[in-house]
Amino acid sequence: MSKLFESIQINDTITLKNRLIMSPMCQYSSEDGFPLAWHFTHYISRAVGNVAAIIQEATAVVPEGRISAEDLGIWKDEHIASYQKLTTEIKKYNCVPGIQLAHAGRKASTQKPWVGKDQIKSTEPNGWKTVSSTNQPFIDGDEAPHQLTTTEIKAVIVEFGKATERALKAGYEIIEIHGAHGYLVHQFLSPLINNRTDEYGGSFENRIRFVLEIVDEMKKYMTTQSLWVRLSASDWAENGWDIAQTVELSKILKSKGVDVIDCSSGGAVDYQQIEVKKNYQVPFANAIKNEVNIITGAVGLIFEAKQAEEILQNNEADLILLGRELLRNPYFVLDAAKVLGDDLKWLPQYERAKNNHYK
Ligand code: FNR
Repeated sequence: MSKLFESIQINDTITLKNRLIMSPMCQYSSEDGFPLAWHFTHYISRAVGNVAAIIQEATAVVPEGRISAEDLGIWKDEHIASYQKLTTEIKKYNCVPGIQLAHAGRKASTQKPWVGKDQIKSTEPNGWKTVSSTNQPFIDGDEAPHQLTTTEIKAVIVEFGKATERALKAGYEIIEIHGAHGYLVHQFLSPLINNRTDEYGGSFENRIRFVLEIVDEMKKYMTTQSLWVRLSASDWAENGWDIAQTVELSKILKSKGVDVIDCSSGGAVDYQQIEVKKNYQVPFANAIKNEVNIITGAVGLIFEAKQAEEILQNNEADLILLGRELLRNPYFVLDAAKVLGDDLKWLPQYERAKNNHYK
């Protein structure tokens, strides 16, 4: 059997049936934070397609933490029931439902990408005043964010906890903190963004305080569920957040009971220099796996079964998160089993399509 189709235990109670995970991908298709028919089709078809777990797209812990007004959210109890329907369906296909809890910070209040990438000013419809670790905007000339006070930071941390409690009531078994791509958590981590002089800025210990306090707050509500953190392992810019700091942070996260580091990169500053190519983020997962001895997920331009299998065989990562390839092909996992010679059981409804004979 291939390694891609070996199960893996991620904590005392949760085992994933294979190593292929749906990476979180914003759909910009919700109303008032609620999942709609689109989300049911989108996620359930990937569960039917046999991914071991789904990390639901960035789901905002407060309304102003949405990237766009159409982002998913879980900032009020009314959201719970719809998500519960979604997780119930996902679980029917032996797929573990996960959710990425997010706050976009200074990168919030934008158009959805197919309308335009621009910030929407706080005075315009569907726009709001953004908040951040800093008082500087992401793009020069954009409206500056409000720099969170210490009291306001504590309030955001509490909201991450409340969102966790709601997510657990809704049946999610993996909770991932979005600590990557230049969003609020990353806005605290990166020395290129965080210009604070209080206990949340300056030294490494101060810049990581926000995410560590979020973890502590979330853990108050978590029992058997698994906590993951997505980090940008590099800002791809001089004097930025880097892999050495990511390794140090990952060690501390592990000691606090985080099970998986989902290794991404970039997004902090608009002058980043990334050479995007096949497997380009795999070395980060590899470094964290070797130096921290924590389960790591590799993501980014992984789109073939043999490529994914090789990453696992080389011990560079434990999990493969698939983004765009799963948008192209919800049944990628079924195809991958064929390519790697694994005898994957198809759902009875689709069983007769498994082999290409015309009876
Ligand atoms: C993303 N990505 C992303 N990442 C994340 O952590 N939270 C999110 O909500 C989103 N949203 C999102 C939307 C869309 C449409 C795309 C294409 C991507 C990044 C994604 O999870 C993944 O890390 C990258 O796409 C790289 O992996 P692939 O696509 O090369 O497999």
